[in-house]
This record gives sequence, C-alpha cells and structure tokens, in this order.
Amino acid sequence: MSVAHYFETMDYGTAPEADSEARGWLAKHNHRFGHFIDGRFVTSTSKATFETREPASGKSIAAIAKGTKADITKAVAAAKSAQTKWAKLGGAARARHLYALARMVQRHARLFAVLETLDNGKPIRETRDIDIPLVARHFYHHAGWAQVMDREFPDHDPIGVAGQIIPWNFPLLMLAWKVAPALAFGNTVVVKPAEFTPLTALLFAELAHEAGLPKGVLNIVTGDGDTGAALVDAPVDKIAFTGSTEVGRIIRAKTAGSGKKLTLELGGKSPFIVFDDADLDGAVEGVIDAIYFNQGQVCCAGSRLLVQEGIANRFVDKLKTRMAHLRVGDPLDKSIDIGAIIDPVQRTRIDALVKKGVSEGASLFQPDCKLPKSGCFYPPTLLTNVAPASTVAIEEIFGPVLVSMTFRTPEEAVALANNTRYGLAASVWSETLSLALDIAPKLKSGVVWVNATNLFDASVGFGGYRESGFGREGGREGAFAYLKPKSHTKQKLRKALVPLREATSVTAPNDAVAIDRTAKLFIGGKQVRPDGNYSRIVLSAKGKRLGEVGEGNRKDIRNAVAAARAAEAWSKATTHNRAQILYYLAENLSTRANEFAARIAASSGVTPSMAKREVQSSIERLFTYGAYADKFEGAVHQPPLRGVALAMKESIGVVGVICPDEAPLLSLISLAAPLIAMGNRIVLVPSERSPLIATDFYQVIETSDVPAGVINIVTGSSLTLAKTLAEHDDVDAIWAFGDRKLSTLVESSSIGNLKRTFVDGGYATDWFTPKIAEGPDWLDHAVEIKNIWIPYGE
Ligand code: NAI
Repeated sequence: MSVAHYFETMDYGTAPEADSEARGWLAKHNHRFGHFIDGRFVTSTSKATFETREPASGKSIAAIAKGTKADITKAVAAAKSAQTKWAKLGGAARARHLYALARMVQRHARLFAVLETLDNGKPIRETRDIDIPLVARHFYHHAGWAQVMDREFPDHDPIGVAGQIIPWNFPLLMLAWKVAPALAFGNTVVVKPAEFTPLTALLFAELAHEAGLPKGVLNIVTGDGDTGAALVDAPVDKIAFTGSTEVGRIIRAKTAGSGKKLTLELGGKSPFIVFDDADLDGAVEGVIDAIYFNQGQVCCAGSRLLVQEGIANRFVDKLKTRMAHLRVGDPLDKSIDIGAIIDPVQRTRIDALVKKGVSEGASLFQPDCKLPKSGCFYPPTLLTNVAPASTVAIEEIFGPVLVSMTFRTPEEAVALANNTRYGLAASVWSETLSLALDIAPKLKSGVVWVNATNLFDASVGFGGYRESGFGREGGREGAFAYLKPKSHTKQKLRKALVPLREATSVTAPNDAVAIDRTAKLFIGGKQVRPDGNYSRIVLSAKGKRLGEVGEGNRKDIRNAVAAARAAEAWSKATTHNRAQILYYLAENLSTRANEFAARIAASSGVTPSMAKREVQSSIERLFTYGAYADKFEGAVHQPPLRGVALAMKESIGVVGVICPDEAPLLSLISLAAPLIAMGNRIVLVPSERSPLIATDFYQVIETSDVPAGVINIVTGSSLTLAKTLAEHDDVDAIWAFGDRKLSTLVESSSIGNLKRTFVDGGYATDWFTPKIAEGPDWLDHAVEIKNIWIPYGE
C-alpha cells in the first residue's frame, strides 16, 4: 500500500504489538499450568484440565489445572501456615515486599499487558495504559498502608486467610485490588482466578516469588465455579468475591453463620446522566468510554444513558457519528478501540438481550464497522426509544450495548437513575457544578463521577449499594475488609441463659415496677396495638409476672418499615440536629435513671448497683454518639489527577436491629444510637426476655423530639421478627446480636436484596467497656461510603 493510498482513504494502518515474549512464556511452560501453591507450581490432584482460549482467534493457548477440593485444602493449609509468620514480619517488612511486587509489575508491564490481552481479548491500549499501571499503583499504595498500619490501625489485627474469587473482565487488576490490601495488613491468600482468564495470575505468582515473596503467602488455585465453591466452603476467615449477582447470592447463603467475613462486588446498571448544559462533545467522549471500554464488560459500565429531553436528538446524533469511528478488531493492534468479547457464550447472551430489546420496542443502531472474520466480536450498539421497564433497561448486559432514555427535570433524572436494583456507579454531566453536586448525593451508588467516567485509584474506595454488593476496595475505607478489631480475638461465645419459668407462688413485684399493663408497639411515633392482637407475658428473672407486651408479626414489621421509610427527612437532617436529639435522649433518660434501674434489676435479676451502672453507661453511650454525630466525617481523597474524590459517609437507610438479652437497656442503646447518629431510621426488636425496658423507653423517645418513624420498636419473638426483617426488600441493612442461630438465620435470609448484615455470630460483646462497645468501628457499620469524583481539569 502506498502513502498516496493512505492519504486518499485516511485509513489507519495496523500497529501490532509484539507478542513473542508472552508466547515465549507460555511455551516455556509447555502451554500447561498447574496451581501455584506454597511457592511453586504443583499438579492438580485430579489431573483434570480445561483450556483457556484467545478470544480474538478462538484458539486454545494453554491447558489449565481444574482445582479440586483437595487442591483447595492444600492451598488453604499453605496459606494458614504462612500467615502467622507473615503477620509477625511487621508492617515495615511487609511494605518492602509490596514495593518489590509493585516494581516487579512495572518491570514486566509489557509482558503482563500482552498476556492479559491474549487471554482476555481486551485492547492492548487498555491493558498497557490502564489495567497494568493500576495494578502497580495498588501495590505501591498498599505498601504504604503496611508501613503505617501500626499507627493508623492500632486496635486492629489481620483477619487471617482470605479466599479471593476473581472475575474475567479485569483479571490482574481485580487480583491486585484483593491481594494488595490483604497482604499489606498481614493476611495470606488463596486466589481463584476466572476460568476464562487464569494466565496473568499465574505469571504474577511466579514473578512474585522470584521477587522474594515468602512461600504460602500468595496461592493460586485455578478452576471453574466448582473450584470457587470449594474455596467458599474451605476453612478460610474471609471471602472476597467479584462477579455476578447470582453467584454473590449463592456465596452469601453458603457463608451464612460461618463467621467468615464477606465482601461482594457484583453487577451494575449504571446511569450516565447528561443535562442540557453539559459540554456535549465531552459527554460524547465520556459515554464512549463509559460503555465501550473493555467491550462494555465492566461492572460499573455507564450502560444507561439518561439525556435531558431538549438535547436528546442532538446528543444521540453526535454519539452515532462518534460510534461510526470506533474500530473493532485485533486487540493486539495498538490502534483498536474495541477488542474481542470474552467467549462465544457471552456474545450469545449479549445478542439475545439486544434482540429482546428490539422485540420490546427499542430502535437499534450499530455503525457499519468491519468486524474480524474469526474470533469473538460484537459491534458497538445503541438502543434508543427504550422504556424504563423494558428488559434491556433493567438487566446488566455486560457487553458493548448502551440503552438510552430521556428525562425532563433533575428530579426525573434522579428517579430514573435510581430505578434499578443495583447501585454501583453513576456519571453526571453538567457545566453547572452546583447542579451536578446537588444530584450526586441523591444517587444511590457507591461511586459518582462528575463530568468524567471510569476513574479509579487505589486511594479511593470502590464498591456498591444494594444488589451491587457490599464492602469497599481501595483507600482507608477498603482497609477494614482485611482487618478485625483486636477485641474480637478475645470474644467468647455467649452463654445461653437459663429459660425463665413462671413461679408458682406469684407475689407482687417490687413497687417501682409496674404490673398489670400491656405495652404496645411503637411505630411511626405512636404507641399502637399489635396487628394480631396477641400479647406475651414478661417474667422477671425470678419468674414473677412483670407485665405483657404486644406480640409483633409480619404486618407490624411491614408497618414499621413503611414508617421508617417515610422518615427520610432524618437522613437529610443536619448532623448538628441529630447530635442535639441524641443529647436530649440522654438527658431525658438520666431524669428517669432510678426507674430504669429498678426495671432492669427486676427483669434481668442483676444487683441494684449493676442495674444503676447499666443505666449510667447507657446515658454515657447516648452522649458519645451525640458527640460523634457531627464528627465521624468523610475524607477528601487526592488520587493522582487534578481533582478530588470526596468520600462521603451517608446513612444506609432503613436498618433492622435485633437486640440481645444481656444488658437489655445498654445493648439496645449501643445498637440504636450509632445508627440514628448517622441518619439511619431503625426498626428495632428489643430483648425478647426483657422487652419492658424498651417499652418504657417509648416515653423517653416521645419527650426527646425524635421525629416520628426514626425509631420504631416491635416486641415479640426475636427469631420470627428477625427473619421477616431480613427478608424484607425495603430494609437496607440488618444488625443482629444474639445466639449463633440468629446470625445464621439473618445472613441466609438477607439474600433477596443482598442487604448488608452486621452480626455477632453468637459471640458476646462486653457492652460495659466503651473501647469495645462504642466508637468508630460501630459507626463504620452504620454508613455507606460514596466517593464523588470531581476532576477540575488540566
Ligand atoms: P460468575 O459470577 O459466574 O464468575 C465470577 C467468578 O466466580 C469466576 O471466578 C467463577 O469461576 C466463580 N464462580 C462461579 N460460580 C461460583 C460458585 N458457585 N462459588 C464460587 N465461585 C464461583 O460470572 P460469569 O459466569 O463469568 O459471568 C456471568 C455474568 O456475570 C456476566 O454476563 C456478567 O453479567 C456478570 N459478571 C459481572 C462481573 C462484575 O464485575 N460485576 C464480572 C464477571 C461477570
């Protein structure tokens, strides 16, 4: 081809990246890989293998060991025996190892990038400029956390051994997101890469050991979903999973009650909102990146375009013109925009969803771009005229498919944006920063990009709300996924209380304790009769009748949740206002301290001085959380760009709370106060054994200006009411403290909307020791962190 020809056609030539080094590495291993366990490659116990293919050609590039339960057992044992030593090395020594890993990645950056492109099909432009540099950045950033761990997290220990399950869309980057923090904080890991893309994990393990990483600290077991399931079942201390929401649900159900910590990073259907005053050309570039980056196989892909009506036609025309210039083809070609889809299975799924969209009335646009004849490719696709309720507007497509809708007002934009069961990311485009910053806090998502998209950094937490999962990866907020409070190490299983039996000779209880009354429920700021009109007898520790409380049922919980949902103004109240109300509660409780102490003594059988101490500690606790209400603040992250990311601590929403029997007033206050301090509205089930403490508290609430619906109390069977709350799809999180059965029930019943759970696994909390029972560790469970990225230009 002559220069004149190119001048005429303005065609791009090809710019292929050399792949000889990556293919050489595959050849060195005879295109066959075992697991990487305890510092070396080992063959699988079953000898079974599967093939990993090159999506761009469909050709097999290596045979990979299919991990069995026995392989997982071996890897977990290696990780366990390495963990104590790794933790004891200390932060500074671990930091040196992490720096060495970061430098190793940089030294071999091109090899990693090419191998990732071969195995995954994503353009070399992306692996070279985004994935691999971010991998190195994660190890550098977390080397720093290792260095300062003792000072920054003095009250925390490593968790132990983490099982980490990785998806195929960012194989090495997701490994880095999980491995770097785990290792930095003294944990060891067993990683299960995705079956489509195991190669860069194996290369990483090999080079990490050449760089001096001690054996057993990082173990890789390859395989499919069965191997992943075996890792979930193994005796690890934590599971970190990124992948589909369906598998996330399975893992939540399987780990229920096991005491394993869990973080889930799942799917999304992220909105990309363009207001009529946006820089339209900038927004077009943004949307191209949001949905066609990595062929749209991105959990936070901006897959729902929401454009303000007045500019919709103009914007869509510009977008179509830009789409026509996208180049789909050989991902090793440096001038390619869109590479190959991971596997024919995924392409079939994408195509079926696009056809479904068209059959449901959407208009299809695909530019007339040339696709390679072989390999697995899909053209950039735009669906317009999409109804908000249609399948393509709801389901995660995980391919290069954008659906477009319009809105008229900012309120409508927010309503449409939040009309999804997911909550991972969102992008807002407007030249009026006040508008963008008004919208950002209203979006239910863990990340919001203002006039930008797909910005990631190791110092900024990433993770979702709702069915996008829970937990954050990156930054200080991500550290807690791999740390546990030191106090947990000393926790003992709660002793079962002796069941109460009604005494045969009933004598009048002591004077200060009311008798002959049936306490109602407290819903929406009012005392109401239970729906079923049943009540339960409350006995003293000595078996005397103290009174009766309402037996709450499913309908009462429903009403309480509706009241809590309606009290949304509490979440928007100023932190000053919330602090004042907590102080007021404390003052009003202190004026009735003697009465509460008498009730506690009669109900739980503790000595009068213990009862007094419980009331005093409860008052202190309310003051503490009043103090924290306006002090548990977010952070301004400074990722390496001109801009900031605001890590905002937001309320979670409506939270169910199940209280234990011990220290019935103090445990109730210890659970309720951090939640309401952070702006949550609660539905609380008090101690089943001593519920009258809670019903007496109604009057304290009523006289303390707590808005109706912020605290709702339903008495009755803890297990029955906990199940109803855990299954309720309009409850955003649940805290459950009691026996182990309760923790298991709550975790396994929460899979419907994948609500966040905070349970004690049956381990007793020392409610009287402030260092253990109050403070930031509790507040962390009461907030969602949303990172709002605000770049401010060159
Ligand atoms: P997947 O969720 O099945 O796979 C993710 C990882 O989990 C892989 O390593 C897999 O081997 C493992 N796994 C599968 N079943 C498991 C089980 N029962 N227990 C433990 N581990 C298990 O995702 P898949 O099948 O690769 O893709 C299906 C859909 O999931 C995609 O079309 C996409 O919609 C979504 N997806 C979302 C991702 C995200 O980052 N949000 C990443 C990958 C897929």
